[in-house]
Amino acid sequence: MSNPLYVAIDTPHLEEAIALTKRIKNHVGGVKLGLEFFCANGHHGVHEVQKIGLPIFLDLKLHDIPNTVAKAMQAIHTLEPAIVTIHAGGGRAMMEDAKAAAGAHTKVVGVTVLTSLDGDDLTSMGVSGDPHAQVERLAGLAQEAGLDGIVCSGHEVKAARKSWKDGYFVVPGLRPAGAAMGDQKRAVTPRQARDDGASVLVIGRPITKAEDPDEAARAIVGTL
Ligand code: C5P
Repeated sequence: MSNPLYVAIDTPHLEEAIALTKRIKNHVGGVKLGLEFFCANGHHGVHEVQKIGLPIFLDLKLHDIPNTVAKAMQAIHTLEPAIVTIHAGGGRAMMEDAKAAAGAHTKVVGVTVLTSLDGDDLTSMGVSGDPHAQVERLAGLAQEAGLDGIVCSGHEVKAARKSWKDGYFVVPGLRPAGAAMGDQKRAVTPRQARDDGASVLVIGRPITKAEDPDEAARAIVGTL
């Protein structure tokens, strides 16, 4: 079994990302670089982190017309990311074209409803019904469009796995037992998420802010 732990390197600073990745590289499955990192450092920055030898998850959450997203996917082709995120809300054609444009070894994963949005936000955007129903609808659409999987919370992954047997489920917002909760109010442990069917466990601050990030990563993997 390959190591499912991807560490969220949430920084725009290249040197910091490199130093952190070097410290944790022996105990993690990969690193997640987000929009802030990519906007600040582009392909060069990704290449520099890649030299350390870990798979890269590019969390870009692409969302535009199908042609533009497909071209963006082609533009990151040479980076050979292991995982790329796109917004399922971009619709079926956008998802289909994004998947078709991605490299054969890249998992294209859909973001359903951002956890920063609540029911009132959705209503104000003209989306009626509860957020949970919207998550399910978009997950179904992602599956129909041929994506590899979705990003979902530790609370959702069990149901997602049940209805999408070979889906690839990326689960963030996890907290090791006994860890500070930060702004993750309803956290699930990495072990629980793994048992419930997560393919990838995304963990940021409990590792990146630990006194010894490598030891923190090792301890988490030891619970799986
Ligand atoms: O530091 P922490 O473990 O909370 O980082 C989690 C990572 O997962 C961050 O990069 C964050 O943007 C992302 N994420 C999340 N919750 C979601 C979706 C993404 O924490 N619902």
